[in-house]
Amino acid sequence: MMTIIFGVMLLIIFTGAYLSVRDIIFPVKFIAVFVSIECILIIAFLLFLLIKNIIVPIDKISIAMKEMAQGDLYKQIPISGENEIASMVKDFNLLSRKLVSINELIEKINSGESFEHTFEYVFDSFKQFIPYNRMGMAVLDEERAIIRAEIARSDGVTIHLASGYSLPLSKTSLKKVIESGQPRIINDLEDYYRRNPGSESTKLILQEGIKSSLTLPLKVNETVIGVLFFSSIHKNAYEHYHVTFLKHIANHLALSFEKGILVGNLVAGSITAIVKLAESRDADTGRHIERVRNYSVAIARQLASNPKYKPVITERYIREIYNFSPIHDIGKVGIADSILLKPERLTEEEFEIMKTHTLIGAQVLEELRQSLKDSWKSFFLTGVEIALFHHEKYNGKGYPYGLKGDAIPLSARIVTVADVFDALTSKRPYKPAFSLRQSFAIIKQQRGESFDPDVVDAFFDCKDEILRIYRELLDDYVDELDERGFAL
Ligand SMILES: [Fe+2]
Ligand SMILES: [Fe+2]
Repeated sequence: MMTIIFGVMLLIIFTGAYLSVRDIIFPVKFIAVFVSIECILIIAFLLFLLIKNIIVPIDKISIAMKEMAQGDLYKQIPISGENEIASMVKDFNLLSRKLVSINELIEKINSGESFEHTFEYVFDSFKQFIPYNRMGMAVLDEERAIIRAEIARSDGVTIHLASGYSLPLSKTSLKKVIESGQPRIINDLEDYYRRNPGSESTKLILQEGIKSSLTLPLKVNETVIGVLFFSSIHKNAYEHYHVTFLKHIANHLALSFEKGILVGNLVAGSITAIVKLAESRDADTGRHIERVRNYSVAIARQLASNPKYKPVITERYIREIYNFSPIHDIGKVGIADSILLKPERLTEEEFEIMKTHTLIGAQVLEELRQSLKDSWKSFFLTGVEIALFHHEKYNGKGYPYGLKGDAIPLSARIVTVADVFDALTSKRPYKPAFSLRQSFAIIKQQRGESFDPDVVDAFFDCKDEILRIYRELLDDYVDELDERGFAL
């Protein structure tokens, strides 16, 4: 088009110039000169527009691209006008911002930032590229049979489908996403719920005001470990082109999650191994710490269904309980054999020394905690709390500090019940194993005394699970069993 206009203009100018030098009548000559000058001015103006709106922006894009190729990802070109070049500049600026955000995400993961912080960063930073009001993540358990909500963030609305909510994979439509490894878009959740009225999770998400969602598989080395949800309060928020970009984010989040789990399990696992070795010195069997871990996790999961504790007991919190409850007695490594292995009851003096295992354990873990990066410090705090406070009593009559009620950290209040229940049902050099009936009665009797009433209630609410763990991890020495397989 521009070429044609320029062609016509040039033709007029040349004709005007030709007529102006020929011997023709005055008015025609004047008109020819006038029209030629007009055309020259128009061409100059068009050239100015061409340089301003096309040549300069293209030059800027080309320089920015070169700089980007050299590693400077943050390039923003000022946009003017509404033409095609301006829209190209807009796309370029958007691409640059996306690259910068993904780069920052990778840097966060590489610098050892915790998974929770990484998730938070994604929630806050990617809204400029993708429409969402809520982000959630659900992860498969080790057997890949249960899918459990891991974490969720939302724009202020109450989260109904919260961390810990779980379902058998076979009973959810996520099975298809996980098995196929393909993303899923539901642009009208109300309609979806009408067609699938049995979907409990859709009901919960609708209660949060969510109208459409995009679900992506979370892959680590081509294995799907869970799913990532982006959800919007508007219908039809998602298009297939959103998937391409979100896939990158999903992959990075999966990596950050795996890394966190791996490091956490590795550190806590090595400590547990040391404790097992240390415990082999005293009367506790290796299974004691395994049972305490399982009882503690069962109680914590049950407690999470109590609205009072729901915000505190996240999946991360449960993992901390899982990793650190077995090492509650790590401080026993500092107790002399003559006391630790004494078959009779301890004297008052010896008991005072025995009590210091809480302080020794906390000191060991605190030293380890101080050597860690900030993001891991909070993770280890639960370990320190459990080691230090697992002998405190709810009524303030415990040790080492005689803390009362909620002043004792929740993690320790949970582990205390698990630890005592296992001590009661286990044989010790100075006492036989109590029967289940006796042990349950003692726990109930100490509700509000030694133990937090809420924790005791959760313990009894998950009694079936406690019994299952008891049966599964029974010590070999228990030979007198009743018809249900429990120690008499
Ligand atoms: Fe202890
Ligand atoms: Fe113990």
